[in-house]
Amino acid sequence: MPTITVIDRSGAARDVEAKSGMSVMEIIRDNGFDELLALCGGCCSCATCHVHIDPAFA
Ligand code: FES
Repeated sequence: MPTITVIDRSGAARDVEAKSGMSVMEIIRDNGFDELLALCGGCCSCATCHVHIDPAFA
């Protein structure tokens, strides 16, 4: 199973497992990162799920 490294606003990094078929938003939200509100559940209407991808991995 792939792993993604999530860095929160304080700069703390944590590796989380990325289940196949889930969006990055769902993976981060479901791993307890309260900073990611994702209020609309991924319908692209609230803009509360912003993430920044390190250019090295884009
Ligand atoms: S959860 Fe991403 S736009 Fe609402």
